[in-house]
Amino acid sequence: MAKVLGIEGSPRRGGNSDLLLDKFLEGAKSSGNTVEKIYACGLKIAPCDETNVCFKTGACRIKDDMVDVYKKLLDADHLVISTPTFFMGVPAQLKCMIDRCQALWAKRFILKEPLRDDEKERYGYLIATAGLNKAEAFIGTKQTIKSLFHVLGLKYKDELLIGGVDAKGDINKDKDALDKVFSLGKGIS
Ligand SMILES: Cc1cc2nc3c(=O)[nH]c(=O)nc-3n(C[C@H](O)[C@H](O)[C@H](O)COP(=O)(O)O)c2cc1C
Repeated sequence: MAKVLGIEGSPRRGGNSDLLLDKFLEGAKSSGNTVEKIYACGLKIAPCDETNVCFKTGACRIKDDMVDVYKKLLDADHLVISTPTFFMGVPAQLKCMIDRCQALWAKRFILKEPLRDDEKERYGYLIATAGLNKAEAFIGTKQTIKSLFHVLGLKYKDELLIGGVDAKGDINKDKDALDKVFSLGKGIS
């Protein structure tokens, strides 16, 4: 069975994307996987300062909570990111985490070093919520997350994009979305 890492991007605990992520992880756990959840907003992660030291070393020179996140990102078999839409993209705290993965990009694509020892197929999932009930609300987020998964060597496996939810807990009215996200998680083996 696999190790599944869930990353929550919203600063609102118990909000829509947080509840969806819990359901996904509940599903993953129900089929025997090990799950772990982290909140981007609960960590101290500085933004990338573009010194590009990582181009030479393959590692970020900033030593903060991201040190531990790098390990978790590479150790997980599969990754699920759950996030609200903020100004057509992801919240700043999650974006800081993603931008800091530039060090992994440098390691892989400039220094040509593998990120992991094995070549196991790893999957990435995206869960996203938005107030706007239109597909356009997710374009920015999808591009960003696809780019992150590419750098991490994850295959963009599946997504659940739910528009038209705004107030905290709105998602609880959408049983279909909660069932779908549970099944997505349950499908991981
Ligand atoms: C700062 C901020 C910016 C937002 N920007 C957008 C946006 O550009 N498009 C949109 O559809 N919804 C936007 N929203 C609404 C949230 O995406 C929506 O309420 C979402 O369900 C919140 O999820 P959460 O409860 O997981 O935080 C914004 C909300 C906030 C607080």
